[in-house]
Amino acid sequence: MAQAMAAASELISTTLKRPFGSDGPLGDDNGGGALAHADEKPKARRREADPAAALAAARHEFGEHGGVNMSIEASATFTVMEPDTMRRLFAGELGPDRGDMYIYSRHFNPTVLALGRQMAALEATEAAYCTASGMSAISSVLMQLVGVGGHVVASRCLYGGTHALLSTFLPRTSGVRATFVDADDEAAVRAAVVPGETRVVYVETMSNPTLAVADIPMLARVAHEAGAKLVVDNTFTPVVVTPARLGADVVVHSVSKFISGGADIIAGAICGPASLVNAMMDLQEGALMLLGPTMNAKVAFELSERLPHLPLRMQEHSRRALAFASRMQRLGLRVLYPGLPDHPHHARLSAMANPGYGSGGMLCVDMGTEDRANRLMHHLQNTTQFGLMAVSLGYYETLMSCSGSSTSSEMPPEDRAKAGISPGLVRMSVGYNGTLEQRWAQFERALALMQPVPAPLHHKPGAAADRDVLDAGTTIHRKH
Ligand SMILES: Cc1ncc(COP(=O)(O)O)c(C=O)c1O
Repeated sequence: MAQAMAAASELISTTLKRPFGSDGPLGDDNGGGALAHADEKPKARRREADPAAALAAARHEFGEHGGVNMSIEASATFTVMEPDTMRRLFAGELGPDRGDMYIYSRHFNPTVLALGRQMAALEATEAAYCTASGMSAISSVLMQLVGVGGHVVASRCLYGGTHALLSTFLPRTSGVRATFVDADDEAAVRAAVVPGETRVVYVETMSNPTLAVADIPMLARVAHEAGAKLVVDNTFTPVVVTPARLGADVVVHSVSKFISGGADIIAGAICGPASLVNAMMDLQEGALMLLGPTMNAKVAFELSERLPHLPLRMQEHSRRALAFASRMQRLGLRVLYPGLPDHPHHARLSAMANPGYGSGGMLCVDMGTEDRANRLMHHLQNTTQFGLMAVSLGYYETLMSCSGSSTSSEMPPEDRAKAGISPGLVRMSVGYNGTLEQRWAQFERALALMQPVPAPLHHKPGAAADRDVLDAGTTIHRKH
């Protein structure tokens, strides 16, 4: 318990107006400090480059009665024995570390704080704090870092909600300006920077839905030269890529996806320097404290039980996604998957990825038109039970959606086209239940049903009986 409190101590003491000893300005120290590494072997932990090893090395929280699982602190508010203790808490003289003292769970809650330490270990950041949703994590960070009238350089291919936040909501409510660029084009990113005004460069490690892989070291260089912070949404690639090790200042997550794995929880996380989390919890100026996107302690407990098997789940998501992507490609389908050797970002992902976790569980099949995408998904769900038509990702079942008419529909059609989101793009989050061969057989059967019913031979002389016609104009080449 004392160690748990040591971690919180640094956080809460700064929040309540005490200087944070070892933490430099935001972004100056991503390498591991008090929060992620608050145990007796901070140096050893700092060396854990493998996310599974880092998670295992994070302090194990025991329950109140010695339970192997931590207790849930389900209280919204916390009592004190003497009136003066309350004053001392607000003055920062007491806190979670000194006397195990908390004030109120919108501020810090012990169970949510424990999950934050796991997230910090996973993402190799100094600190992390968990929120009620991915969008609340993203919007809070942007509001905290950018400020009224500030400028953001953002990738033009982002989750639709984030795109809408940057293109519509923040401009209207905070005067924030965003320039959307091809994040692959270093010159375009540099040209988009407004000297003295650009506060954030914002990308997704693997873009939703096109699965473009961001060159994080390059973007970090450009951001830092401009005096800005690189904020990376790592929702698609937890464990697979650790953006903070590659130069990102802040890593955000929709924890609702792979990290949860259960398609039953909406949650988010902000992983970064302790100074950022502290600033976001500031009683006067903190976006987390004042906007209040607080995670419930019971949800934090649930998620803390799932993080230990996230690396195993990601391995299997990745293994199946690569197998399906390779086989689909061999059938002649247009597949987007950065794990395929001919994907334009294959080498970049290989260079950035943590060894042993593959290329992630997301793949896209471009069916050309929305109608064909819908027909394929119909058969995959309703005829062969390959997966479910649903947005979101990271579930044990395969989930699929046509991005242009669902999760990217917030984007104007011209922006979708610029981002490379074709109307027939089917995004799949590849699940791991059932066997791989069982699932593949289901996919092949659904694809076969896409073929137009062949006209009787005497009506259509010359119809090739030995050719697999996927749809008008598309021939499937069966290579295995
Ligand atoms: C890449 C990405 N970031 C952020 C979000 C938003 O997360 P949440 O739904 O948890 O608010 C999503 C949601 O789909 C997403 O795909």
